[in-house]
Amino acid sequence: MKKIVISLGGSVLVPSLEANNVGRYVSVLQRLIQKCQIFIVVGGGGEARRYIAAARQLGIDEATADELGILVTRLNARLLVGALGEMAYPRIAGDYTQAKEFAGSGKVVVMGGVTPAQTTDAVSAVLAETVGADLLINATSVNGIYSADPKKHAGAVRHEHLTPAQLLNIIARDRLEAGANTVLDIVAGKVIERSGIPLLVLDGRNPENLYRAIVEGRFIGTVVSEEDFCPLPV
Ligand code: UTP
Repeated sequence: MKKIVISLGGSVLVPSLEANNVGRYVSVLQRLIQKCQIFIVVGGGGEARRYIAAARQLGIDEATADELGILVTRLNARLLVGALGEMAYPRIAGDYTQAKEFAGSGKVVVMGGVTPAQTTDAVSAVLAETVGADLLINATSVNGIYSADPKKHAGAVRHEHLTPAQLLNIIARDRLEAGANTVLDIVAGKVIERSGIPLLVLDGRNPENLYRAIVEGRFIGTVVSEEDFCPLPV
């Protein structure tokens, strides 16, 4: 069975606690687990950002603020594991070795953040490398990587395909703009480059987009890979 690591943004899975997408993800994952082995790294979303903002206002250092963010990612991960029931390994993997160990159960393995100064995108890239994934999917709130921020620039165009080196250039460019919403963090970009594992960035706000991409090879998004090929359907 092919292995797929999904980086599931907190703002995608839990845009708010009241209007969360957990149930919709469970129903899609139920169908996906027949086809492939799934690993999910859950992000912290708006709630993590609120905790981090409160911590900064209190004069708390950045690394400690990151720890608060990590706790929120794990809280979201716990919500997903609970909702997945028998489909998921019942514990949240605390590190990569543990994730690999839990995968032996054949169940969906879920984890959140692990260490300060990065995001769950970096965690998902390292996890993909650790378990030898065939594909990494970044399920986020935009349908791909754009030439400029599509929310600010009407003429921004979506990249259909990028090499890892081109992705790293974009990450470096975005980092120079204060307050820019970077596509992926630099650690994620570096690991994607060295591992050679293809990455697909797509809009995860509708979980069916993942099913269509993985099972039917139909998607709107950006593929990052060394060669100009589409790794889907797996
Ligand atoms: P996220 O990965 O959710 O950040 O981690 P994000 O970019 O805001 O992603 P979305 O909105 O979910 O898509 C939330 C915060 O938790 C800390 C960081 O502070 C990060 O901004 N964190 C997370 C870490 O320090 N280390 C990790 O391994 C993961």
